[in-house]
This record gives sequence, C-alpha cells and structure tokens, in this order.
Amino acid sequence: MKVKDFIPDINLGTTNKGSFTWSSPSNIALVKYWGKKDNQIPANPSISFTLDACKTTTTLSFYKKTIDTAFSFDVFLDGIQKDDFKPKIETFFKRIEMYTPFLKDYHFSIETSNTFPHSSGIASSASGMSALALCLMSVEKLLNPDITDQYFNQKASFLARLGSGSACRSIEGELIVWGAHKSISGSSDLFGIQYPFEVHSVFSNYRDTILLVDKGEKQVSSTVGHNLMHGHPFAEQRFNQAHDNMEKLIGVFKSGDLKAFIKIIESEALTLHAMMMSSMPYFILMKPNTLQIINAIWKFREKTGLHIGFTLDAGANVHVLYPEHEADYIDAFIKDSLAQYCQNNHFITDKIGFGAKAQ
Ligand code: DP6
Repeated sequence: MKVKDFIPDINLGTTNKGSFTWSSPSNIALVKYWGKKDNQIPANPSISFTLDACKTTTTLSFYKKTIDTAFSFDVFLDGIQKDDFKPKIETFFKRIEMYTPFLKDYHFSIETSNTFPHSSGIASSASGMSALALCLMSVEKLLNPDITDQYFNQKASFLARLGSGSACRSIEGELIVWGAHKSISGSSDLFGIQYPFEVHSVFSNYRDTILLVDKGEKQVSSTVGHNLMHGHPFAEQRFNQAHDNMEKLIGVFKSGDLKAFIKIIESEALTLHAMMMSSMPYFILMKPNTLQIINAIWKFREKTGLHIGFTLDAGANVHVLYPEHEADYIDAFIKDSLAQYCQNNHFITDKIGFGAKAQ
C-alpha cells in the first residue's frame, strides 16, 4: 500500500447525520519508536504489545452543515467540554483531510473517556487518536460501504499514525509492528501490521502491570522528544540497534526464550532514556522511585529466577512485564514490595489485548 491508496478514488456518498463509538486500547512498545521524519514517518521500526484494560472510548456524532469552509467540532472528556484538546485535533484534521475529504462537510462532536485516570501519567494519545481514527473510518464506510475490513483497519492505522505515531499500533492485537523492517514482510512506515510470524504460547496473556511513579503532566512532549533525535550524536547507532533488536525478537518470539526477551526489552527502555539524557537539551525523566523499582526487580529476579522484566515510556512510570504462569508470585511481589514506590500505592493491572472494538 502506498500513500495514494488511502485517498478515496471515488466520489463518496453523503449522509445527513450519524454516530459511531469505538473503544481502542493503549499499547506498550518493546522496541521503541523514538525519532521521526516528516509526515510522521518513524526513524526506525517498532513493535508493541496491544493492551487490554487501558483504553479510550470515543463517540463521534455528526450532522451535515451548510457551509463547508472550516473544520467544525467540539470535544468532551467525561462529559466536560475540553477546548484545550482542540488544537491537537485541528492539526490531526489538517493532516488527514486529503484522505478523508468529508471532514469539512459535517459538524462533529467528539465525546471521549479513558479507563485510566487522565492524571495517571499514562499517555492517552495512542488510545485516543486510534479511537478517533476508527470512528472516522466508520464514517467513511457509511459513505462507501464497499471498503474491505482489511482496508478499514489499515487506513484506520494510517490515519491514527498522523495523529500520534504510536497510535497506529493500537488498532489490532496482540503484537503490532510499525515501520519497515527487512525481515518482516508487509511491514510499513505508513501503518501498523499484526506481527506475521510464530509466537510461542508463553506470550499469551502476557502481563503488564503499570506502576504509577509520577502522575504529573509529561515534562517533555513526545514531539519535542522525537525532534531531539535530529542531529543527536548517537542517532544512527540507535536506529541500527532498533533494527537489530527487531531481528532478535523474531527468534525470541518463536522460541519463547524469556531471558533473551527481557534483555532486549530492558535494554530498549534504558536506551530510550539514554537518548534523552544525551540529547541537547538533555532530560532525565526517571524519578528516584523508578530506579528503586528497577533495582528491586533485578534483585527479585536474581533471587527467584522468575521472568519479571520492565520497560519504560518517555516518563517515570514502570511497565512490569511477565508471563501469565508466573503471575501469582509476581503480583504478590508487586503488591508487597513495589507498590510502595508508586504515588498513593497506585498501579494498574493490564495484559496483552486483541485490539479496538466497535461499541
Ligand atoms: C516513548 O507516539 O507519543 O512511547 O508521534 O509525536 O505523537 P508522536 O509520538 P508518540 O511517541 C511515543 C514514544 C514512546 C515509544 C513508543 O511508543 O514506541
């Protein structure tokens, strides 16, 4: 699929009004997307687990308007009008207008809510932008009922990417690849695809418990962060490393070698933060409790031989990843020994999920 394949090549139908609702999950990257080119093209391929419990539900209601010169929409979070969300959505609409030419024909009301608290430090951009992209695809399908399910999902991912890169990995489950990689056929910089190769059963229902170390607003927006990879002294080595780690994961997913898996994901997480620490300007997004947790995980793993590992996003929270069959022991360890490092002992229990759902 090429960019032009996402521009409707027929005159879309029309409708007076309608409403669609989608629930779309968050995702957690194992190989990180950090650095991008123009038009939301990633500097390297990434792969993520789709999550299950952490999700956004969005209802898009619309009616036909008479004058079609500007975008017209309102946004609500938990029923409260949020004009501060509008600039991001306006930017998104501008970026996708050529692919969704009906945008200026309607007034849209976007009503959204998250299962996780807004102030949890969990970014809602992946789940939020993917839910909105799916609602827009439902409008497109209403106007052009001939589109296939495959096209629907691919274009939803393509549009979501233009809202927020990682959002393109939130349409389907359970493992999603975004960004062209030589060994993964069908992988594309334009949209996410389901990981196409064998995955060992040890990864079924894989757990992700999110330790909320810092619930504050992000110190560095991801857009600013990605831009710091331009001219970064280690950028090329980092992008090559991401390609290598993707290659290694292909073998790990097949064999179920969790020791090798943990080495890759922890190294990816620490490299992401090392990139931030070595950019100009530089940032430290980990907090003292992030390091306490990492050290406690390493000690516990050494002592018990259990397959507990961690990854980090561009923030202080820690995602603890582990297989389902060890969950009883590791859940107890999290509750007894790690929760103390979280703000108000707050953590969220999640696991691998199967993707977005129409409501
Ligand atoms: C550290 O997808 O939030 O979570 O494309 O600018 O919206 P934008 O960035 P975003 O970046 C996510 C970065 C990350 C790693 C990842 O999810 O791969």
